[in-house]
Amino acid sequence: MPAPHKHAPQTDARLGRIVRLLIAHATVVVSGTKIAAEIGASRSEVWRLVQQLRELGVDIAGHPSTGYSLKSMPDLLLPDMLAPHLHGTIFGKHIHHYYKIGSTNTVAMESASAGAPGGSVFLAEQQTAGRGRGVHQWHSARSSGIYCSALLRPALPPSDVLILSLAAGLAVHSAVQEIDSRVLPDLKWPNDVLIGGKKFCGILTEMNAEVTRVRYVVVGIGINVNQSSFPADLQTVATSLRLATGTEWSRVELCAALLKSLEREYRNLLENADAANSILRRFQERSSSVRGQQVEVEENSGFEGVTDGLDSRGFLQVRTAEGVRTVLSGTVRPR
Ligand code: BTN
Repeated sequence: MPAPHKHAPQTDARLGRIVRLLIAHATVVVSGTKIAAEIGASRSEVWRLVQQLRELGVDIAGHPSTGYSLKSMPDLLLPDMLAPHLHGTIFGKHIHHYYKIGSTNTVAMESASAGAPGGSVFLAEQQTAGRGRGVHQWHSARSSGIYCSALLRPALPPSDVLILSLAAGLAVHSAVQEIDSRVLPDLKWPNDVLIGGKKFCGILTEMNAEVTRVRYVVVGIGINVNQSSFPADLQTVATSLRLATGTEWSRVELCAALLKSLEREYRNLLENADAANSILRRFQERSSSVRGQQVEVEENSGFEGVTDGLDSRGFLQVRTAEGVRTVLSGTVRPR
């Protein structure tokens, strides 16, 4: 099912095919004629598509008369680059890529309402209106982060979607550790992932549901991967994996690891009666703030207290002078 098209169009699938072809012939120059024949385009179209790839940051040498070769391995989240890593998972078949879009969550929610299948993934190189929780925005600079929305159609009651969202945080945690086990991400309830007290990942989970039955859920994950700086208002609170580790990360590798670990968490939640308990336990083990932290909560008229773990539904508990209170949706800040 194609995504609705009132947004920017999806990236031309022929771009991915050119990249795949150049990777397959990485050591040689591939003629414009050969590429044209392989992707079913004219030589002048191939030139135009190569120019588009260069604008996306792909390092291609050559021109129509000499042929083309890749100077370095591109790190674009194109379906052709990701799909080979995702064979056999629910996320391998319906990958949608946008060069530039408002918000991948918005296009995913709209596609879901138009009938897109569970397991569809929506990725963008750049978002112009990336959305965070509540009124927040998500800074989404071109090709330096992962902006990914996964559409799921779980047979779950809406009350379990918080657990699913916490599981998405665990999926980010294990994907990062799988690639660099020296990095120790710290989960902050409900959906932030931090390194050294600064946020590098945020998750926005949205759903459409009846009272007792979820129709669909979109798990939107933003990861700051290779940013080398942030706008002044974010500098004290945001970081990227590159800033935290001093090295460039492969977005393709990380995104593939993320979707594979998200699928593991998702299947576990659907198939195992004890999965919710395991998610709650692992979340608490990987969070320095979910227990014993002095916090203020911006909910109703606001209150203060000390965090006291998660309840069985996944809500944060805070011990206050008046007793234990449950945080339902407010922002929680350390004091
Ligand atoms: C937050 O920390 O408040 C949540 C941020 C979620 C950002 C991601 S980026 C991909 C997806 N599309 C969006 O518009 N938002 C989410």
